[in-house]
Amino acid sequence: MVKQAIIPLAGLGTRMLPLSKAFPKELWPLGSNSILEKILDECFEAGIQEVIFVISKKKNSIKKHFLKDRSLEKKIKNKPDIFAKIKKLNQLSKKIKFVYQNNPKGLGHAVLCAKKAIKSKYFLLLLPDDIIIKKNCTKELISLHKKNNSSVIALRKVMKKEVSRYGIVGLNNSNHKIKQMIEKPSLKKAPSQYAIIGRYLLNKSIFQYLEKQQKGKLGEIQITDAMNAMLINENFFGCKFKGKYLDCGTINGYINSFIEINKS
Ligand code: UTP
Repeated sequence: MVKQAIIPLAGLGTRMLPLSKAFPKELWPLGSNSILEKILDECFEAGIQEVIFVISKKKNSIKKHFLKDRSLEKKIKNKPDIFAKIKKLNQLSKKIKFVYQNNPKGLGHAVLCAKKAIKSKYFLLLLPDDIIIKKNCTKELISLHKKNNSSVIALRKVMKKEVSRYGIVGLNNSNHKIKQMIEKPSLKKAPSQYAIIGRYLLNKSIFQYLEKQQKGKLGEIQITDAMNAMLINENFFGCKFKGKYLDCGTINGYINSFIEINKS
């Protein structure tokens, strides 16, 4: 059973600066909740029992958002609607563990920081920049994992002009088995237009590969490079998920996502 998920939150969010400087983008609102709560809802609805947040000292406000605040609770006790919302955050916090990555060396390195917290053979990795609505993508990944007993990554076909922004896979078109993964390739080097979207179900042997992984694109430890190295020993299947993808990693993407969520 897949019971744990890692959510990396220690990045600098440079594309959202200066808005993200003091207020982490993961806490920005989407509808009446934050982006991060949307991701947590997806996890817990899919049966995940514990979530590991990778944060940094600079982003301690994320911890503060979830942890109990007795003096605040006293002040709002007579406002039941608001009190219930604060209580919900406290409830969520019981299932959250915090680990630190104070020097952001890349997504792969952030995942490695959570190594000690992972107990079972497979775990989930979710990126809050990628919101998927209308259908629970985590559930889809878990059911494909059960079928193939392997690692699974979420895929979405992107436009030719977008391939250099993503991790791109080469895959067998009939069974969606992954043959190759390349981080941010040029269009010429891209094996397809299928991009890795921020939902991964991984065998914990990924940590061995991450420990050996050299810096890749953007001078960062890239998880795509470690997964590509792992392909020799581990099967990976792609999940062309059914839900609607919303990009919350850029200002324009965030504004469009906010509008889309308010429509649904
Ligand atoms: P991104 O590569 O999109 O980086 O990280 P970012 O910092 O969020 O944003 P930009 O690109 O500078 O605008 C994908 C996810 O991995 C986390 C981020 O917080 C984000 O959730 N991350 C990234 C870390 O936790 N640590 C890192 O060193 C890098």
